[in-house]
Amino acid sequence: MCGIVAYVGPRDAVPILMEGLTRLEYRGYDSAGLAVIGRSGDLRVRKAKGRVADLAAALPARFKGRTGIGHTRWATHGEPSDVNAHPHVSGPVAVVHNGIIENADELRAELEADGVALASQTDSEVLAHLIARSEAAELEDAVRDALSQVVGTYGIAVVDTRHPDTLVVARNGSPVVLGIGEKEMFAASDIAALVRYTRQVVHLDDGELATVRADGFRTSTLDARATSKKPSVIETDEAAYDAEGYTHFMRKEIYEQPAAVERALGGRLDDRFHTAHLGGLNLDPREARGVRRVKILGCGSAYYAGQMGAQLIEELARIPADAEPASEFRYRNPVVEPDTLYIAVSQSGETYDTLVAVQELRRKGGRVLGVVNAVGSAIARECDGGVYLHAGPEIAVASTKAFTSTAVVFALLALHLGRIRDLSPADGRRICAGLRALPGQIAEILRQEDEIAALAADLATYRSMLFIGRVRGWPIAREGAQKLKEVSYVHAEAYPASELKHGPLALVSPELPTVAVVPDDELRDKNLSTLGEIRARRGRVITVGHQELGDDSLTVPKNEPELDPILLTIPLQLLAYHAAAALGHDVDKPRNLAKSVTVE
Ligand code: F6R
Repeated sequence: MCGIVAYVGPRDAVPILMEGLTRLEYRGYDSAGLAVIGRSGDLRVRKAKGRVADLAAALPARFKGRTGIGHTRWATHGEPSDVNAHPHVSGPVAVVHNGIIENADELRAELEADGVALASQTDSEVLAHLIARSEAAELEDAVRDALSQVVGTYGIAVVDTRHPDTLVVARNGSPVVLGIGEKEMFAASDIAALVRYTRQVVHLDDGELATVRADGFRTSTLDARATSKKPSVIETDEAAYDAEGYTHFMRKEIYEQPAAVERALGGRLDDRFHTAHLGGLNLDPREARGVRRVKILGCGSAYYAGQMGAQLIEELARIPADAEPASEFRYRNPVVEPDTLYIAVSQSGETYDTLVAVQELRRKGGRVLGVVNAVGSAIARECDGGVYLHAGPEIAVASTKAFTSTAVVFALLALHLGRIRDLSPADGRRICAGLRALPGQIAEILRQEDEIAALAADLATYRSMLFIGRVRGWPIAREGAQKLKEVSYVHAEAYPASELKHGPLALVSPELPTVAVVPDDELRDKNLSTLGEIRARRGRVITVGHQELGDDSLTVPKNEPELDPILLTIPLQLLAYHAAAALGHDVDKPRNLAKSVTVE
């Protein structure tokens, strides 16, 4: 959500910043801007409403500099416009900011009372003025002064023409990572902007600042205590950040699922004891046996994947488990139990609501594991242990491969906990075999894309759709509805199939199709009765299951009942993608949304 990139070094900063902004555009895309310090020491700023391409078109040919900052925005305060775009400038200072300054109104009033004319409606602009007004000689101290007056979250990058060879960056609740080059340095909110230039990175912690020059960096806390940071090497494939010939990242990432699931399973299955090994759990068998309850927290699709996880844990390990939106949990003063295992789920590892839920749990003494994709992210670092997805970077705003990889990791965790408890070796062997079959079966489903695309184009003509599923099918229905509304803007509502006649059946008519998740499990007959009730009211039914159940049936190969939901998700991803594509939407950048929600 919003992207920051910064450069200091001997090269022209502008192409590097523009390349970084293009890589970060999935984080926010309503306006973009750059500020660089030119060779004569002047501050050059260009901003444009719209996409990074609009900014590129607005840049004069001789717009160059050796130190600079860039930003791509997802508006929180003030509508998307040239003036509200970052960087914000005050005299010699320019600032880009991710996050929210909560006391911006008071700070704006104080600045105005002091005669400062504010140019924008943003909360971020106050930072530029506060830094410019500081009397500190060093830019780092001026930034520290300003941040001491601010309440809220931030990742910031600052340049000042009085210190033309210096960048200052700081983090509190919104990520900042330094990239170490050869006699040049980079900074960004996301490694996506850095991988083209360096693999050596330093993640700042909350409450940390860095002064960055071409030949190195120095980190310290907000109260000026030096900190010592060791660079880590990121292992990522640069190609993962390119669409590589696919029309959209969402489609590419749907197609990456067989490989992502292979990676999630890689080296984790044990054929001797028919269990799973998860190295980073930090939970020995005795502690695992002591777990009385599992509570899973996440937001949006991560929450629905957590709901799948809770079902897997309850079924395979027979530990009571449930999932709850982290965004709700953090505000309800939760009772934290010592023998409950809490699990935070997040693709980005930066979702603010999930991060704060983890911090609240830790503060109350809860044990929290992370199921996270982004290595070294804030949530991963905050947890007591956890499991990485290894799904590779997810660029499309709509989550696909992270969702399935999360479900696979939960199946591994459920198998691990189950085999420590009462899951039999025979059942363990059955689940191991089922997990191994998943990548090939996902590839088989992807081969039905043309058929699903034709159905999607037809369904895209409706204004609204219902998604239903029972028990294991219920999180799948929720995720299917979420995917459809996110990218196609077709209204979609998910209900447990069992709840239909308690209310939503009133909506059913020829104008409202129902997508029903109907696996061949012990609840199939119940589901068939529900479909009968819908059809009796002339509602169109689209089934996703193991058998043809009418004209509009999408089928998937059969796995084990506990793992079938993972496969049932795939046709619904393709359905959403093709409905959005048929309606001509920008699938990777759906309106009003951005990847990685680092604000409340
Ligand atoms: C939906 C989607 C969002 C995210 C949610 C949590 O396709 O992507 O609902 O799942 O914002 O994000 P992470 O997993 O990064 O915490």
